[in-house]
Amino acid sequence: MSEEKAILTIDGKQIELPVYTGTDGTKAIDIGKLYDEHRMITYDPSLANTGLCRSKITYIDGDAGILRYRGIPIEQFDNESPNFVETAWLLIFGRLPTQDELLDFRARLTNNALLHEGLRQRIEMLPPSAPPMASLSAAISEMACYYKGYLTLDDDEQLTEVAARMISTVRTIAAYSYRRSQGLPIIYPNPKLRYVANFLHMMFSYPYLHYEITPEIEDAMNLILILHADHEQNCSTATVRVVGSSLANMFSSCSAGVSALWGSLHGGANVEVMKMLDGIYAGGLTPEQCIEAAKDKANPFRLFGFGHRVYKNYDPRAKILKAACDKVFAQLQHQDPLLDIARKLEELALSDQYFVDRKLYPNVDFYSGILLRAIGIPTNMFTVIFAIGRLPGWIAHWKEQHDNPTNRIIRPRQVYEGNDITDYIPLKERS
Ligand code: SDX
Repeated sequence: MSEEKAILTIDGKQIELPVYTGTDGTKAIDIGKLYDEHRMITYDPSLANTGLCRSKITYIDGDAGILRYRGIPIEQFDNESPNFVETAWLLIFGRLPTQDELLDFRARLTNNALLHEGLRQRIEMLPPSAPPMASLSAAISEMACYYKGYLTLDDDEQLTEVAARMISTVRTIAAYSYRRSQGLPIIYPNPKLRYVANFLHMMFSYPYLHYEITPEIEDAMNLILILHADHEQNCSTATVRVVGSSLANMFSSCSAGVSALWGSLHGGANVEVMKMLDGIYAGGLTPEQCIEAAKDKANPFRLFGFGHRVYKNYDPRAKILKAACDKVFAQLQHQDPLLDIARKLEELALSDQYFVDRKLYPNVDFYSGILLRAIGIPTNMFTVIFAIGRLPGWIAHWKEQHDNPTNRIIRPRQVYEGNDITDYIPLKERS
């Protein structure tokens, strides 16, 4: 229990509040009893200064540009064989898997790759032109209809199975929705292929011509998914926690996470970045005009892929993705003028007082789209890729909250500014 106290002095009264200290020394003032004992609340509308929970999954130091998964620096995942499945297991279960645990999880992913035929037919009822994130959110929610045995999870075995079911099926749902949007036949998962290879197989193979993944593409895709796998209490993860706090099942909680991620201020930014870069390339705007437009308060335009609620330094993921662009472009002998435009925009922004004063740096979305495009992923699937990457993080947070015996339903309060007591006026007396 906390020994340290904070003293709140208000209306001549002194209120003692417990203080907790995080692993990095960050202090948190516990106001859990402020309303019950003092009929007072705090006000923090975007929760920018409010701890939603205590967590051991991911650590971010926004000022230093540090990101760690279960204590491991994100830079160490950019190694000779980046492995998304291993990272997913680490985030969910709290440590790196043994060989046997990784083999078991891989086998579960393989066994769970096929869509339930009923769910496949449900996806077929969606318009082929449906926004991919709408299809994904709907299909993940409907998993609750076809896998009713997983609506309540009694032990880690069941959680492991449903985690594998979701992490595996999300690829099949995404690929199938993409194939339908292109008027192409569904490509079923191939049990001989590893996670990323199987996804790209389902996206790009033909019944008569199988997509052959190169090691460079497989590594790049694993790295992209790893970099998106978790990010502590971001909007979509906090959404999963809020929904899960009511004891809603994992499918419904993660479907809500997909919906939150879709927003252009969050996971949807990677699509907006490409629209912005394409616009500059098409000659609509120069990079200089883009920067000026982003600074103009009368203009709703934002420099997408820049700025972050937590990072007031370079997002370490953006740094890794920028380097990965150079590496993969060289490996594939690929050219993309958008990379040069992105670099020019970054150079202009980082030397502009408006961005410097506000500590606006490139975030994960600034370079991710350029790399995804080099791999052949269509732009309207970029946020879906973000969701595939983030799913293990959502599951890890859902589990951490679900395993916490002190979990209570998340129900914030408000500052009411509406009418004081008012009488009802019958319709015939109203003008
Ligand atoms: C992700 O939370 C996470 O961890 C998210 C994420 C994850 O992994 O889950 O990291 C993924 O969502 C990354 C962010 C992707 N979104 C974008 O790239 C959209 C563009 N960025 C901004 O909309 C903004 O920076 C946010 C949404 C990311 C952060 O918003 P905040 O913290 O609410 O900051 P703010 O809007 O209050 O901005 C502070 C100031 C404002 O100017 P002033 O009122 O002080 O004059 O900075 C300005 C803003 O106008 N500003 C920008 C800007 N971002 C902030 N001005 C121009 N272009 C921008 N991109």
